[in-house]
Formats: sequence, structure tokens, C-alpha cells
Amino acid sequence: MRLTRCNPRLLCLTIALILTMMKTHGQPPTTPMPTLVEKNGRHTLLVDGKPFLILGGQAHNSSAWPAMLPNLWQSVDNLHANTLEVPIYWEQIEPQQDQFDFSLVDTLLQQARTHNTRLILLWFATWKNGSNHYMPEWMKHDTAKYPNIKSAKGDPIDSPSPNTIATMEADTRAFKQIMKHLKAVDPQRTVIMVQVENESGSWGSVRDYSPYIQKLIDAPVPAGLLKPEILKALHANQTTEGSWRQIFGDRADEYFQAWSIATFIGHVAAAGKAEYPLPMYTNAALRDPLSNPMATSYESGGPTDNTLPIWKAAAPALDLEAPDIYLPETEKVLKVMELYDRPDNALLIPEIGLRTVNAKYFYTLLAHGGIGFSPFGIDDNGQPEKDTAIAKHLAPFAAAYATAAPMAGELAQWAFDGKIKAAVEQEDHAAQTINLGAWKAIVSFGSDGRANAAPVYDQPTGGIMIVELNQDKFLLVGTRCHLTFLPTGKNAGRPWQYDNVEEGNFGNGTFKPRRILNGDETDWGGPGFGNQPTVLQTTLIVR
Ligand code: DGJ
Repeated sequence: MRLTRCNPRLLCLTIALILTMMKTHGQPPTTPMPTLVEKNGRHTLLVDGKPFLILGGQAHNSSAWPAMLPNLWQSVDNLHANTLEVPIYWEQIEPQQDQFDFSLVDTLLQQARTHNTRLILLWFATWKNGSNHYMPEWMKHDTAKYPNIKSAKGDPIDSPSPNTIATMEADTRAFKQIMKHLKAVDPQRTVIMVQVENESGSWGSVRDYSPYIQKLIDAPVPAGLLKPEILKALHANQTTEGSWRQIFGDRADEYFQAWSIATFIGHVAAAGKAEYPLPMYTNAALRDPLSNPMATSYESGGPTDNTLPIWKAAAPALDLEAPDIYLPETEKVLKVMELYDRPDNALLIPEIGLRTVNAKYFYTLLAHGGIGFSPFGIDDNGQPEKDTAIAKHLAPFAAAYATAAPMAGELAQWAFDGKIKAAVEQEDHAAQTINLGAWKAIVSFGSDGRANAAPVYDQPTGGIMIVELNQDKFLLVGTRCHLTFLPTGKNAGRPWQYDNVEEGNFGNGTFKPRRILNGDETDWGGPGFGNQPTVLQTTLIVR
């Protein structure tokens, strides 16, 4: 039999085709790593290679156990969240030194995939709200090797020493194992970020006053802090050398504590990233953002607004420092968001109090170009009956997320591009103006959304975000407010009207109108937004 001679070009093509098929069918394609990107001082989190908006919810501290998970997932579903923030516990992961148990982590991963939800893992380790309570027992029993700090009077303080290498190395070893494990078991990138520690710092003493610390605080401040821009941001003496007291005056104790903790956590994060470079952050118990108080009145040494320059210098492996918001006053919450939205710090709110009035800040977060939002304590925390208080407070967050979810990708991109503006109702219910280039929007609150109705004032829950689609075209998402517009600039004072106002929803990249609003729905001071978030699209014309 005569063999046909093989055409070499055809052979090459066939081999290439087989290799491609092996690549796409034989092995799972590699999912890109979640990455935080920055452009012109704005940020976005890329998940699966695309801008991703974290519609998050955080579990209660003791809810990451298998028996609690069915209830927790129910809460995630009720909230319409796309991301669950959930703790992982050092005491459970390393019950004996160097013996690791990742069973809870693996259960979380499997169940998150089944629920089509991403995870942010919270590493409860050396610090949890300033204390060492999540350290494994074998460490808690060895107080000489893994000590707590002491107050100025020599009293024991319930907070771990950040200047103890043995503690730092133990935490680092465990964290490295976790990141190595995640790298091996999570090619799907179910975990999109990791929080390193939880609300680090110390309550009850501004720093460690153990006798050996005095030498460290009298020693020259490390060169890493002695950069003119850092000293300026810290309102410090612009000298090239000196002790902590000489350079930082009455902030010396707090800044020493911040440097010590940030160096520790930065070391843990860097070692973890060397195994598997997921985006990492740490969270702050806040101080009053308006009155510049001293650290005796808040948790000392954590990433509070005044110590951010120290954290940036000491812990470059952390992608961001994030505020946990429990302040009741609107003015203070808005100030905090301003302080943590920096060109070198993407705004992420990993915890906000689960209170009806707090859902409105979701709009403000997007206007800041923030990457994620998450009420704290979304599950009923083991209560036998469904906790109706939780359900009541969850409802406005759930409504905001349900509206945002179909357009979450677009919102993330618009936030990154700086196209979103927002206003939220303050305690005085006063109207506010939003500047939109060729237009300004005047937002009045206290409305229940009905046209031609006297304002109904309740708790300050109103809010709106406005997406600039083009100079005269806007997408509006709002709750409990009314809106009208005025032309500005060269058109200021000219008559104008709505070209159209459509009500609908956004999905699959387009706005889908349900109806056109006109007559009473737009003539009485502009369109109104009721108790549930509403999506409108409008085009304005100058006549
Ligand atoms: C802030 C902490 O970070 C959370 O883990 C939790 O303890 C809440 N406070 C409780 O309000």
C-alpha cells in the first residue's frame, strides 16, 4: 500500500489545533488573579479580569462554623450580596504548633462556590479588636514567649505585644500556610481579598510600657519614617534624626505603637503574598474624624486616619487600610470616607453598622470610586428564631444591592472612571446641590416618592447617586428624595426641560425602561424616589 505523503503545513496546523484543544478542554484555563489597580489616583478591583464591585456582607464573629453556615448563606441570599466577608480563626487552624487544619477554609470555599459568591477571608489572629483572643491555646499558655503589653503603671493590658518577634514569626508561619493552601485549592479565585488581622491596636494603654520598650522609644526613629513628605503629613518636626519624642512630641507613644503594629502586620502580609499574592488589607477601629483627639480615647496604633502615613511606610504589602464605620453622625461618616479615599488608598468599607440609616452610604462609596461595601453581622448569630431586628435593618441594604447587582460591573467601571456623584440626607434634612458639569442637580429629602406631596421626614435615610452618561444624560438611582436640575455655565438662567424621564432597570449592559414618567411624576419639582431604590434615566435640554 502506498502511503500518502503528509503536507507539512497541514501537519503543523493539526498539531496546533490539538494543543489548543488540550489547553481549553484538558485543563481548566487559568482564571486571572484578583488585582487592585490604580489609575490617576482612582482604583478598581479586577476579578476575573474585570472591574468588580464588592456587594458585601460580613458574618458575625462566631458564624464561620459548619453548623452556622446554612443560616449564614440564607442571609447572604437575602442581602443579594455577591461577596461574603467571613473570619478564619488562628485557634482553629493551628490548634497545635505547626499542625494545620484547613477543613473550615475548605468548607467555606466549597459552599461559596455552590452559592456563586466570592469570599473575603478575615484572618483573626494576633489582633482581634486589639486583643489576642484568637491566638491558639498553646500560645496563650506561654505568656513569657508571647506576651501582652503593660500600661504606664505596669498593669497588664489585654493586647498582644507588637514588638515580640516570636509572636510575629508564629503569625507569619501560619499565614503563609493559609496562603499556600489557598493557592493550591482555589484556582477559581473564590477568595478575592484577605484581611490581615482585625482592628489591631490597643485599648487601655497607648503603647507597651514594659521596661525594655523605653530603649526603643528613646532610640532614633527608623529612617523609613524620616522622609519629608511623611513627616509633613504627620505634622512632625522636620529633622533628620531624633528619638520618637523629639520628632513626634506628644504623639510619640501612639506613633511608636502604630509603627510597631504596622511593621508586624506588614511582615505577615508580605510573607503571605510571597506565597499567593491576593489583594490584602487591614481594618481600623476609627477615632473621631473631626476633633483630632488623643489616642487615650480610641484604639491606639491601628490604621486611624492620623496614622495612615505610618502604615503606608511600614506595611507596603497591604494594598489598603479600611475604615470600620460605626459612627452615628452623617457628617462624621462622610468625613471618614473622604479621609480613607486617597490616591494611595482605595476606599473599601469592610464593616458598616447594620442600621437602616447606613444603607445610603453605598451611594457615597460609589461617588468616591470605592471598591466595596459591607454591613456587619448579617446573620442571626445562632438565634433560634429569625431575628426580626436584623431583618428590618438588612432590608435597605438588600434593596440597594438588589438594584445594583444587575449593573455591578458597570457601576464598578463608572466609579473607577469618576462618573458617579452622590448626595445623602443629613440629620437636618436640608436640600443639597450636586455639580454635574453643564447641570446642577438639587436634591431635596424627606420625600416618600409621591408627586406633589408634602415632605415626610423620618430618619435621614434618603440618598441618590447620579451617573453621568453624557453631558446631558444621566442615570439616577435614589431613595426617599426629590430631584430637579438647573443648567449652569454658559446656559445658566436659561429655560430647560426634560427631554424624557424613563423609569426602569439596568441589566446586561443596557437600561431597560418600564415606563416614561411625565405629568405629575415630573412636573412637581422633578422626579421623586420612594422608599425602595428606583432607577431612572433622563436626558435634559436647554430651550
Ligand atoms: C468591629 C469588629 O471588627 C467586628 O469584628 C465586630 O467585633 C464588631 N466591631 C462588633 O460591633
